[in-house]
Amino acid sequence: MHLFGEKKIIADHGHQELIGLEQQERLVDAFCKFVWSDKWSEQSKALHFMPTILLYGPPGTGKTTLLSNLAAELEANSSKYYRESLDLLVNKDLGETSKAIKSLFDELKEQASCGKKVFLQIDDVDSLLSSRYLSNESSGVRRGVNTFLSQLDELLLESYDFMPIIAATTNMLSHLDSAVKRRFSLKVEVNPVLNAKEIEALISPMLDIISKELTIDFQEVESLVHENTLTPNDLILVMQRFFLQDLIGNRFCEKDVLEGLRSTESSSSTFEQQRKSFSSLNKED
Ligand SMILES: Nc1ncnc2c1ncn2[C@@H]1O[C@H](COP(=O)(O)OP(=O)(O)OP(=O)(O)O)[C@@H](O)[C@H]1O
Ligand SMILES: [Mg+2]
Repeated sequence: MHLFGEKKIIADHGHQELIGLEQQERLVDAFCKFVWSDKWSEQSKALHFMPTILLYGPPGTGKTTLLSNLAAELEANSSKYYRESLDLLVNKDLGETSKAIKSLFDELKEQASCGKKVFLQIDDVDSLLSSRYLSNESSGVRRGVNTFLSQLDELLLESYDFMPIIAATTNMLSHLDSAVKRRFSLKVEVNPVLNAKEIEALISPMLDIISKELTIDFQEVESLVHENTLTPNDLILVMQRFFLQDLIGNRFCEKDVLEGLRSTESSSSTFEQQRKSFSSLNKED
């Protein structure tokens, strides 16, 4: 039974530079430092903060990378660090979900009570924590959500030297159970709209490998990115496609690259469509 994904070995990937997310990175970073500072116990009460973070936005915008970068940095700066990531395969034996969530939280509590700085990363939280009230959700999902909520509340009631930080990512904020949403204090939208300079920073290392001769008008790319609401990952995929063309000896010029971008379907807009059709099913929102 593999409810939990393997712990990610971030050291392998190292830090991956994100473009257009400086504000988001600074906010999340500052929040984690605040949670683990000595101001937390007093100020969090006054401000009603919980040590929970939710990053939301379309696919391929850097949410997972942002958390992984942060976790790698925290890990590097502290020997008292404990990180766990949770990848739930919801369609597998749902009866086990609650049990697995409980044992994960037990582990977190144990680590926190030893004075460790616990960081839990939950990617694509919606698969687990989608609305409890959707008619098509099985009772296993509902139980899973309830267990998660009660475990989280229990964890946050206790006091530790360093409160555990729970950070999650989702594509579908509206899809999430409102009781779940409420329990994430810091909600950060990750949906960068890249300008020409940022686009250049993102794709020129790739262009350099593909072809030294290719010169690209980044202003033009910027307007295509805005027109088609392309995400950073959409741009990366287009560049990969041209790299592969080059690999098999097919020649192309700037016009082809721009045409490639023009005809690329945005993963952000397909995500929007899904979200809309989902919302119409979801009476809660
Ligand atoms: N803002 C960005 N700057 C640079 N690279 C980015 C950015 N956003 C995404 N990428 C790249 O795109 C790929 C996917 O990013 P990531 O997995 O972090 O996206 P995500 O938002 O978690 O997507 P999903 O919602 O599908 O899980 C990674 O290789 C990442 O480096
Ligand atoms: Mg992700």
